Amino acid sequence: MSELTPQTDRAQWKSRFGFILAAAGSAVGLGNIWKFPYITGQNGGGLFVLIYLACIVLIGLPIMMAEIMIGRAGQRQPVGAFESIHGRKTAWSGIGWMGVVAGFIILSFYIVVAGWSMDYTLKSIVNFTKPIESKAATEAEVYIATTSISDMKLFLVNKETDRQLHPRKTLLESRLTKSQKENYERFRTAIEKAEDQDQARLRLLKDEELKSSVEAVEKVEQQVAKARLEIAGSVQTKINSLSATDLLAQVKLSKRRDLVFEKMTGTFVNLLTNGWHSLMWAALFMMVAIGVVAGGVAAGIERACRFLMPTLIALIGMMVLYGAFQPGFGAAVSFVFSPDPSRLKASGVLEALGHAFFTLSLGMGAMMTYGSYQSSKTGLLQESVMITLLDTAIALLACLMIFPITFSYGQEPTAGPGLVFMSMPLAFAEIGRTGMLLSMAFFGLLFFAALTSAISLLEVVASYLIDQKNWSRAKAAVTTGLLTLVVAVPTAFSSDSTSVLSNWEGDYGLNFFDTMDHLASNWMLPLGGLFIAIYAGWVMPRRLQEAEVEDMPAWIFQVWLVLVRVVAPALVIIVLMQKVGIFDIDEWL
Ligand code: TRP
Repeated sequence: MSELTPQTDRAQWKSRFGFILAAAGSAVGLGNIWKFPYITGQNGGGLFVLIYLACIVLIGLPIMMAEIMIGRAGQRQPVGAFESIHGRKTAWSGIGWMGVVAGFIILSFYIVVAGWSMDYTLKSIVNFTKPIESKAATEAEVYIATTSISDMKLFLVNKETDRQLHPRKTLLESRLTKSQKENYERFRTAIEKAEDQDQARLRLLKDEELKSSVEAVEKVEQQVAKARLEIAGSVQTKINSLSATDLLAQVKLSKRRDLVFEKMTGTFVNLLTNGWHSLMWAALFMMVAIGVVAGGVAAGIERACRFLMPTLIALIGMMVLYGAFQPGFGAAVSFVFSPDPSRLKASGVLEALGHAFFTLSLGMGAMMTYGSYQSSKTGLLQESVMITLLDTAIALLACLMIFPITFSYGQEPTAGPGLVFMSMPLAFAEIGRTGMLLSMAFFGLLFFAALTSAISLLEVVASYLIDQKNWSRAKAAVTTGLLTLVVAVPTAFSSDSTSVLSNWEGDYGLNFFDTMDHLASNWMLPLGGLFIAIYAGWVMPRRLQEAEVEDMPAWIFQVWLVLVRVVAPALVIIVLMQKVGIFDIDEWL
């Protein structure tokens, strides 16, 4: 390791603060604003958030410290860092290679979503929700003019019943295991094909396992139906007692929202299914990212982050402030912060762990690369804590920005990946005049967040060519950027029916986009994180390790060592085993 010659010409951050902003910029991204709120919604809020925080502290933070430590000690990006530490070729460089590949893969779908955020920013500037809103208002009036009162009442009763039933239904259904549901699905498909359904049922139910699944699901279905009847009864009484004016007003509001939602969904689906459109934006986004990376570490990345990160925080602050004055704010706060064990499944815990990696940019050497542009040997703990805190704070603020708005405008928190591109525009349309400004702020901040993350992904790949192959920065950035764009083509076209890959989903169950996300986020990052933890805890030369933690209180170092040696690897292995399907944690508990 004595060959570790300080490279005087190697790029450096201008200041520690600049490094923290750039690293936080990498961490804060689509993961925080697009993904975290919707997985929180899907996992019932409260308790999921607590478990996520525990994962961040117990696994995310220690691995973050490990990555920055290795980067600072090796003064190279991940392919070169291990070699430079040991002064010879070592198999640990495999972590770096996997990181380079993961970088390509993540970036290839990341830029597609980032491109959508650009599309929606532009749409907001031309106030795209306004024509949608006024068309919907017209159609709602037509509905009122042409529908009988009793049909309108029926419409309202069904709508309100569904809304009230939703939480109870989710709760009841959460008692079923995945295999029970799968068994039941197969059973239904088979029955529907049969001519004599009663006979088919008898035949299939000879299988004991199938029989118990079917009975369990049917029992839940009966309970749901019973709950539905109860709710419908009281809803009906309430609606019958409404005055004609109130009834018409409610029908109009609810119809208009349905229509706006339909049209918003249509707008998003148009974008999603138009490969060329998505690709065009992805290419434009890539150009911006290439420009920043080509600008250099201090003059490009650090300078961009110094402007983008404070702007991003100011925009989020503004949106949260707006949300605080909305009627749904209380509901949003209690949704995000009050734990309700009945709404979380064990697999939600694993999702929290997986997301901790993605959101902190861990497992593929991004933090290692950024750390390698730092020659300081102090402040490892403070830096890692700052980056982690910023990332976590922004993820929580993103929830407090999105949920008050969606709750106030009658949307479900569980809306899924479309939360940002469908539910939010719907709310913006309802807000009216200010809606346009909010919409611009919201999609603009999504774009900024994506940009500071994308440049870190591009930097990992580009720095390999710069460090190991002596390429010029500009050439490395342009080449890797364009190559990524090629990889992004099938992703951009993954939901386009004209694409060559349109059979992909039918064959594998996930479309190409989701396949890439799945491959990188569920496999490569946890695996990379596992090896990084093991390396930092067990393999890294003690002397180098101690040089990095000299200013750290001894007990913190000891705690870190235990986390990185035992706790983090053990938890990651459990997650990976679940993913391979060795066991299904929901069936166990
Ligand atoms: N952390 C970013 C987000 O939350 C994404 C990201 C940037 C990333 N660089 C990474 C994820 C490196 C994994 C590895 O959106």
